[in-house]
Amino acid sequence: MKIAVLPGDGIGTEIVAEAVKVLNALDLKFEMETAPVGGAAFDVTGHPLPESTLKLAQSADAILFGAVGDWKYDTLDRPLRPEQAILGLRKAMGLFANFRPAICYEQLTHASSLKPELVSGLDILIIRELTGDIYFGQPRGRRIATDGHFPGAEEAFDTMRYSRPEVERIAHVAFQAARKRSKRVTSVDKSNVLETFQLWKDVMVEIGQQYPDVALDHMYVDNAAMQLVKEPKRFDVVVTGNMFGDILSDEASMLTGSIGMLPSASLNSQNQGLYEPSHGSAPDIAGKGIANPLATILSAAMMLRFSLQQPEAADRIEVAVKKVLSQGLRTGDIYSEGTTKVGTAQMGDAVVKALQG
Ligand code: IPM
Ligand code: MG
Repeated sequence: MKIAVLPGDGIGTEIVAEAVKVLNALDLKFEMETAPVGGAAFDVTGHPLPESTLKLAQSADAILFGAVGDWKYDTLDRPLRPEQAILGLRKAMGLFANFRPAICYEQLTHASSLKPELVSGLDILIIRELTGDIYFGQPRGRRIATDGHFPGAEEAFDTMRYSRPEVERIAHVAFQAARKRSKRVTSVDKSNVLETFQLWKDVMVEIGQQYPDVALDHMYVDNAAMQLVKEPKRFDVVVTGNMFGDILSDEASMLTGSIGMLPSASLNSQNQGLYEPSHGSAPDIAGKGIANPLATILSAAMMLRFSLQQPEAADRIEVAVKKVLSQGLRTGDIYSEGTTKVGTAQMGDAVVKALQG
């Protein structure tokens, strides 16, 4: 089992170190190799996704990824910015299926910004298409407008597009995931305005016919954003495009108490996967040892389940995380009165101890 470890920038190095600690505490043999990515890679090689890092990622069964980005790179040309590393990996490896579970742990019901009764027991799976849509659609760029409201003015443009096979494959992923849960899929679109999402919806309906045991409904993205905070428990599997999924998954994270709790898996058709917390590099708290490592540790659990065929080890990690939460240990982002505030490394150590005990 070969794991490429790409810690990246900001808190990335701190949280990935804790996940590696937890993996090493299992009685399994991994081959782990670390490489720089994002701003950290730019600093040493002049590129956020060096050829050697991409090669390592492609040769591994799974990638454990931290986070990339820092304000100090915001003035670089776009192809050199840290974000291009994660976008480049998704594209180069065809990681089209992004799983972002939003689970509200019983112990954290009160850390959510929503009323406890709205989020208690919440368990949503957001499935975000990850290699298409306006993120990657060509053409894009800046130019002088020849039409529109202000001909002659500078303008910028991006292209939202989806092909039928792209929607078909993510639809299958969603319906198959729903079969393992409560057999309900909500497809989120903007078909009332956008051609791209009319095709999306048409294809969802067609593929849905192959899964008569799964109930499919449709929701416009603006309404979905509202329903997520109004009545989040009405959702089970949510499937949507790249940009809507980016936005809705951040929103969903707040239902669970903290984005510091949310793992993610990005899979390609060969089941190779990239596993990363749903949060970013948080440069404002980097190096302070206070970041929450649980999203990354839970991402390692997803890695064991999806790419490494070690479901029991995945269960063990998830049980250990619940145990440390029950012990009252909290990093700052999920801290509330009456619990014990701990740092990044202490949290990782506690999970290791819970695994062993
Ligand atoms: C995410 C992030 C990325 C995205 C950024 C870092 C490019 O926000 O994984 O959700 O927009 O996909
Ligand atoms: Mg995002």
